[in-house]
Amino acid sequence: MKFNTKTIHGGQHNVDPAYGSVMPPIYQTTTYSQTTPGGHKGYEYSRSGNPTRTALENAMASIENGEYGLAFGSGLAAIDAVLKLFKPGDEIISTNDLYGGSYRLFTKIFEGLGIKFHFVGMQDASKIEEHINDNTKLIWVETPTNPMMSIIDIVACSKIAKKHNVLLAVDNTFATPYLQQPLDLGADIVMHSATKYLGGHSDVVMGALVVKNKELADRLHFIQKASGAICGPQDSFLVLRGIKTLHIRMQRHCENGEKIAEFLRSHPKVGNVYWPGFEDHPNHDIAKAQMKGFGGMISFTTAENTLESAVKLVEKLKVFTLAESLGGVESLAGHPATMTHASIPKEEREKTGVVDSLIRLSVGIEDDEDLIDDLKQALG
Ligand SMILES: Cc1ncc(COP(=O)(O)O)c(C=O)c1O
Repeated sequence: MKFNTKTIHGGQHNVDPAYGSVMPPIYQTTTYSQTTPGGHKGYEYSRSGNPTRTALENAMASIENGEYGLAFGSGLAAIDAVLKLFKPGDEIISTNDLYGGSYRLFTKIFEGLGIKFHFVGMQDASKIEEHINDNTKLIWVETPTNPMMSIIDIVACSKIAKKHNVLLAVDNTFATPYLQQPLDLGADIVMHSATKYLGGHSDVVMGALVVKNKELADRLHFIQKASGAICGPQDSFLVLRGIKTLHIRMQRHCENGEKIAEFLRSHPKVGNVYWPGFEDHPNHDIAKAQMKGFGGMISFTTAENTLESAVKLVEKLKVFTLAESLGGVESLAGHPATMTHASIPKEEREKTGVVDSLIRLSVGIEDDEDLIDDLKQALG
């Protein structure tokens, strides 16, 4: 099956043996009757499994070219489950430019539990090896990174991970499997904030993991069941529905993204524009090799390069909504320094380029002329 067909049919065999409904029913139930203790039809309690969640997990595994999908109550709950594979003394090497909430989870929760993190600029993947030692257990990659749109070479990271026998996990939230399939490039774990493009309509908070390896899947399923950070059947249904249009939404996000990136670059009141589709983006060739398109996420600074100019600009937007999050059909604008990345100390975030004048756009699927007109009026 090819990708577009998979978004609609992937993993969806016999979803409703009772009546043949085309969409899986929403099994709004906590428990399942048993004929005798242990005599059930595969489900006993909805924390360990629910048929609507299974339908979604199978769909996620299918579109990521994996074998096993696991859905969680949020993207951070999915990352939390990955980190619970490790024990005090273990070390993790992470991209230094990453979602602020991931950084907060790493440094404020798991560092306190004895796991050591190294934050590394992985645009040159060979830098990773400088931090590997016998305690290293995981390389954590976000690409494109949030919010600087840096591109990390997944194949190069996977060669390093395999050489040193450590796991490689890729946060694929920004790219989605429409643009990039990390398991095919050698990653062991793909993670999603399904809240974003997979859900696609800004109405569900959810996380996902997909893996190929059975033993790893079993360990993660155990953590999912034992820690219990699952999502409900109604939300599973909504994300399953979202996935069915992922390919056409992503196509439009990419088309609009390109037009907006080019518009911003030509505007005198705009400073730097960060978008991997530009030929002079530092890792454009890697983006071209590992992604099918460049997506609808763009960051830029104001030419004035001040906090005030950025705040003034985002306040003036009318079609773009000033809000946290990304990946929905509607265009959003965010101010990382005070919003998504406020939990990262100023000196740390500025090292990676997250300056006070940086604005992040999640370009939606509206008419591009309306989006450009909105930016034009806000830039004044
Ligand atoms: C790249 C990335 N990873 C993880 C997360 C966390 O996901 P959630 O908000 O669903 O917990 C986000 C949220 O913005 C994100 O942008």
